[in-house]
Amino acid sequence: MELHIAVLPGDGIGPEVVDQALNVTRAICEKFGHELKYQIAPVGACAIEETGSPYPDSTHELCMRSDAVLFGAIGSPQYDNNPNAPVRPEQGLLAMRKKLGLFANIRPITTFPGLIHKSPLRADIIDGADFMCIRELTGGLYFGRPQGRSEDGSVAYDTCMYSREEITRIVQLAYDYAMRRRKKVTMVDKANILATSRLWREVTQEIAAEYPEVETEFLFVDNAAMRMIQWPKSFDVIVTENMFGDILTDEGSVITGSLGMLPSASIGLHTSVFEPIHGSYPQAAGKDIANPLATILSAAMMFEYAFGLKAEADLIRSAVSESMKAGVVTEDIADPGTPTYHTHEVGEWIVEWIGKH
Ligand code: IPM
Ligand code: MN
Repeated sequence: MELHIAVLPGDGIGPEVVDQALNVTRAICEKFGHELKYQIAPVGACAIEETGSPYPDSTHELCMRSDAVLFGAIGSPQYDNNPNAPVRPEQGLLAMRKKLGLFANIRPITTFPGLIHKSPLRADIIDGADFMCIRELTGGLYFGRPQGRSEDGSVAYDTCMYSREEITRIVQLAYDYAMRRRKKVTMVDKANILATSRLWREVTQEIAAEYPEVETEFLFVDNAAMRMIQWPKSFDVIVTENMFGDILTDEGSVITGSLGMLPSASIGLHTSVFEPIHGSYPQAAGKDIANPLATILSAAMMFEYAFGLKAEADLIRSAVSESMKAGVVTEDIADPGTPTYHTHEVGEWIVEWIGKH
């Protein structure tokens, strides 16, 4: 099979972790006889420096021509600390999500046997947790207009807006996933307060009626936040709006033991984007210490979701588990007193393991 991939390393540790995921992708293509065609393009702060735009047209056109996008991270402290910067790297990410129609962000939360003790949560609570957060990605507060300040600057406002159509397509997707999993959907909202949440609930109730085999549960977001760390095993598929999903998935990463482990897939109308959920982690940039596993696992999701190549995806996941079993890990997930490895060493170990299996 011919795989056309756009590679967008972005800022901070993005380039280092994407390098490793790309090497793994190359190794898998060699092993299974696929032809990898990829092109690299700028996004985020580095794109602002190069072109003035955080998501240049040339990068967008490349994404549109590609079957999948492998994405690193964006963001730079230079912008975080300047609320008045006229262009921000995050605008590039939002523009990419909107222009590629990336409406569903899928973040699987699972535990890794060797990492359970790394979580601040008790092992008996998290051992065996395995759920999927499906976060709406192109609507809600992130994109609602009007947004801004009053003339004198003393009042600011954002708008949360959702259409029936936006809700339907993602809730439908959640039920499709639930049918292939343990057949449970948890819809998270704040329907006791928000009009948008009440529309989400109404649409979900209608769709739920078409899936009698699937158990449907509604949770208010505050309660869901609590339940996620008290009883994570009660979830199978969570579906929720943009902002709630952003917050809950960072919380969910605590279950896996490290934010450095969580991959994600953003399913789009034009193409799909695969990226780690951790940010650009600028303090670690260039030091070869960042954990590449979330990005490597994102490449696994790319094989499975963008190309339907499940065996390829599974081989990557096995390689990642084996690297952890062998203790070939970066410092964030290494046990105290054990050796730690650099970003490139972890990637190389995984590439070599794939070559031999
Ligand atoms: C994420 C990130 C982004 C978001 C930021 C960088 C804009 O936190 O992908 O979860 O809030 O969506
Ligand atoms: Mn986030």
